[in-house]
Amino acid sequence: MTQDTLTAPAGDLAGDGTRWWRDAVIYQVYVRSFADSDGDGVGDLPGIRSRLPHLAGLGVDALWLTPFYVSPMADFGYDVADYRDVDPLFGTLDDARGLIADAHAHGLRIIVDVVPNHTSDRHAWFQAALAAAPGSPERARYIFRDGRGPDGAEPPNDWESVFGGPAWTRLPDGQWYLHLFAPEQPDLNWENPEVHAEFADVLRFWLDLGVDGFRVDVAHGMAKAPGLPDVGHADQVEMLGTAVLPYFDQDHVHDIHREWRRLLDSYAGERIAVAEAWAPTPERLAAYTRPDELHQAFNFHYLTASWEAPAMRRVIEESLRTAGEVGAPATWVLSNHDVKRHVTRYGGGDRGLRRARAAALLTLALPGSSYVYQGEELGLPEVLDLPEEFQQDPQRLRGDGAGRDGCRVPLPWEGEEPPFGFGAGGGSWLPIPTGWRDLTVAAQRDDPRSMLNLYAEALRIRRAHPALGDGSLRWLDGPAGTLVFVRESAGDGARGRVACAVNLGGRAVRVPAYGTRLLASGPVRGDGDHVELPPDTALWWDVEEDG
Ligand code: GLC
Repeated sequence: MTQDTLTAPAGDLAGDGTRWWRDAVIYQVYVRSFADSDGDGVGDLPGIRSRLPHLAGLGVDALWLTPFYVSPMADFGYDVADYRDVDPLFGTLDDARGLIADAHAHGLRIIVDVVPNHTSDRHAWFQAALAAAPGSPERARYIFRDGRGPDGAEPPNDWESVFGGPAWTRLPDGQWYLHLFAPEQPDLNWENPEVHAEFADVLRFWLDLGVDGFRVDVAHGMAKAPGLPDVGHADQVEMLGTAVLPYFDQDHVHDIHREWRRLLDSYAGERIAVAEAWAPTPERLAAYTRPDELHQAFNFHYLTASWEAPAMRRVIEESLRTAGEVGAPATWVLSNHDVKRHVTRYGGGDRGLRRARAAALLTLALPGSSYVYQGEELGLPEVLDLPEEFQQDPQRLRGDGAGRDGCRVPLPWEGEEPPFGFGAGGGSWLPIPTGWRDLTVAAQRDDPRSMLNLYAEALRIRRAHPALGDGSLRWLDGPAGTLVFVRESAGDGARGRVACAVNLGGRAVRVPAYGTRLLASGPVRGDGDHVELPPDTALWWDVEEDG
């Protein structure tokens, strides 16, 4: 990517009815760690604004911003105290307005996070609930219950918090309240019409401000099983995403999403919602994207699949089939702010990086919409050796190495020393490893073999080629350990085909040269008719119409 290509295409947002989201590449900005404009060591909205030309130049279609609302930051913004204002740490409401306008002018859509499963314990509603008596309307907005046992000293049921320990906290007056996450994140009661009305209003507030959609936090948790029955199982955290629990993925949660879809559809401009839903099967996940529900759901089955051809193929096939059955686009995601970065998950070091490069080409060639987590375009690894005193994530208290700070380390932009241009000041809220000097945006910009340029080039081709993006794929036979498929343009527009081969195995394989080489994730050798694909390498070809 040269300096020239960093100049944004001005205002090329397509109008209504384009279903832009079916093949959008959506870049996740973890606001705290993206760019710090005021030197306090924490990323902010003006910081993002200043980097929009870079993001537009990278070639993504939209940004998803993690929560920047007023928050005591017990869970770094996922504990919201005021849904209609910006936390001073991140800027002002005017900064949000300016960011939305500038992003649109750069051809980038904006998706904001909405956190409807719980509020902060500092939210006016929860403060009112604490001050009110058991049985009051104020408490009915949350999930308060009396305890079990002779004096109610036992929690109302056996539910465990995702962050460890019981999901209930007792108040001095004897009642307990439910929090599926930290005690500072009391769960809302979605049986209460007041909660529905309040969130409809919050959604409208941001839609009126011009956002293009929402990422719905814990979209699978908003409805609880009637009567709040016991799970009957300790160590519930191990069951997350593998079984239906009485607090996750309940059938009636879909009623809420249908209501939200109606609201979104009442706005012009294809405003969307993407569900953060950890569902046990691709079928159950696809249910969140039925035509009258949300537009997309994160595909965590893809994210958690191991780097092996059969496992990857199975999850790709199931994702395409189940999404297709409900008419939704499949989505693809490799990393986010809650999981270990995939360079590290795939083995770390050179091997992890090689696999991450191949995974980028695999992912961006698949039909549907893709998410890119900030820093994956730089090949950032998980920071595994963050000193104890810097670790801040509440989930670390679970004690099984579950802390998420290591994937949230601020981005290195330029220069030779931390904080590498992240902030106007000399520091960053989590320390950036000195070794990241070779991974900065500036260091990678002029290196044609860098991860940054691999992403930029893949995104450029994906945008320009009629066969990539939305549609279907056809598998081709390939050697063991590989995935080989063809993408073909559909509809009446420009014709074209792309072949993609990925070698996930441990030894080099020979594959036919399917056409003209477009892009490779690493060095490949060819002898005209064939290509030798080294381990952990992917290749895209442009295929002739009759090829
Ligand atoms: C989601 C967020 C995560 C947060 C949790 C509670 O899983 O992605 O960061 O801790 O919800 O809001």
